[in-house]
Amino acid sequence: MGAFLLTAETPIFTDAPNQANAAYLQTLLSPPTGYPFPIEEMDPEGKGIHLFLDAIEEDYGEEGYRIEVNPGKAQIYANTPVGVFYGIQTLRQLLPVEIESRELAPDATWEIPYITLMDYPRFPWRGYMLDEARHFQGKETVKDILDQMAKLKLNRFHWHLTDDQGWRIEIKQYPQLTEIGSVRPGTVVGNPFLSRKHDAQPHAGFYTQDEIREIINYAQERHIMVIPEIELPGHASAALAAYPELGCTGQPVEVATRFGIFTDIYCAGKESTYTFLENVLNEVAALFPAPYLHIGGDEAPKKNWKQCPDCQQKIQDLGLKDEDALQVWLTNWAAALLAEAGKTIIFWSDAYHPEITRSAIVHFWKGNQKKIFQAVRDGRKMINSTYLRTYLDHAYKLLPLDETYAFDPLPAELAGPPEKNMLGMEGLLWTEWVPNRARLDYQTFPRLVALAESGWTMTKKQHFNLFLARLRAFLPRLAFHHIEAAPIKDTLLPWHKRLLKKLTLLQPKQGTASSLEENDHD
Ligand code: ACM
Ligand code: ZN
Repeated sequence: MGAFLLTAETPIFTDAPNQANAAYLQTLLSPPTGYPFPIEEMDPEGKGIHLFLDAIEEDYGEEGYRIEVNPGKAQIYANTPVGVFYGIQTLRQLLPVEIESRELAPDATWEIPYITLMDYPRFPWRGYMLDEARHFQGKETVKDILDQMAKLKLNRFHWHLTDDQGWRIEIKQYPQLTEIGSVRPGTVVGNPFLSRKHDAQPHAGFYTQDEIREIINYAQERHIMVIPEIELPGHASAALAAYPELGCTGQPVEVATRFGIFTDIYCAGKESTYTFLENVLNEVAALFPAPYLHIGGDEAPKKNWKQCPDCQQKIQDLGLKDEDALQVWLTNWAAALLAEAGKTIIFWSDAYHPEITRSAIVHFWKGNQKKIFQAVRDGRKMINSTYLRTYLDHAYKLLPLDETYAFDPLPAELAGPPEKNMLGMEGLLWTEWVPNRARLDYQTFPRLVALAESGWTMTKKQHFNLFLARLRAFLPRLAFHHIEAAPIKDTLLPWHKRLLKKLTLLQPKQGTASSLEENDHD
């Protein structure tokens, strides 16, 4: 054993492709250490931190990396700068927790233990979804989340920007979407299912396109892709409040003050709806560089379509069987439109139908599992956000941490060759009952830490009691960023806690330097 000591003289040596990584590492290390970490041109013999590309094994792909820390050198290398970035995240975890401080931490000893490890992710899609329609959180919160996502090696930020309770993205061609659709007069109080009363506290907020670009850049610096979700045809009350003529009845609609499923959805019969959706989707597609766009599609009741002469005419003209077939047709229409803009659509699994264009990615939460798994075996791509495991908004009493940790994005039915069609997982934070930052942190952490392992770590490396030991070492790192995670004891059921006590007695003590979710293959 031994350790590499960071000092006031330690430079960061980097090759050209890792300049941005070097600058990022410098901004992590300098404030707590007070050392400058000058960035220097690569010198293989130099004493210091080394960031460079070097073909490691092909298997380790785009995101894998290797770390070698020995006397004189802490080397991180990978096939790509993304891999080096993840190596930096692990290096960060090998340092004392005070490395997370944004202020000088004079008492810490900045040692990195000598280590050699190789690490790469199990799945390419490792995401977090934030619903900002139900409660708008704002860009500082989003940036904080992106910082923590990077630390957890999560690479997809799925941004739920439109719903019944608010439209949160500026659309230049339709200013009323935000002028009217981003404001609701209050939020339900009393029984969430029955009450028609609200608190009369207006709730508002949206992102300008400039702010969205700022967040996309911030995410890109952390190798996180931002995927917007624009819901259609349902969960559209906020849009219909702004433009009631887009609904079947044309009657006024209010930005919703309560939660649930609403019957006012976009009319799929009128040409004007298609013009609107085409303009909105194209504007959104141009704003976000991601090659994906999530179009939602969940929970779209067909009551209005059944009674609407325009929708019925459309069904006849297209020779469709029924209203569900019309949603399939609309989904394929959106898929074709967005394909021209270079985007692949993602849709929620309760809207799954075999006739949905095969390139469209199914985002599983619930639905006809048998049919959907068959589709994945036949080549359709899937993201797994199983309702009973990945919903971050569930109470810990209903979904304790060990059950989240037990989540395997790859169901047994899809083992073998279909595995490649399972892109990975997302943890979803719906915010009906998440009115503020404290609640957001409590619901998201530590659950997201458990979910991040389901995306990155090989199943055989996952043991809940060892995870808890790593988690205990990790939580202080969140505290440095003023994130108040739920205390571990709140996240477990009573009998789990008792079992845990026993396990803790049996378990070897873990050092704080243990890296959170690496797959050490050496
Ligand atoms: C969903 O939870 N409605 C996707
Ligand atoms: Zn209609």
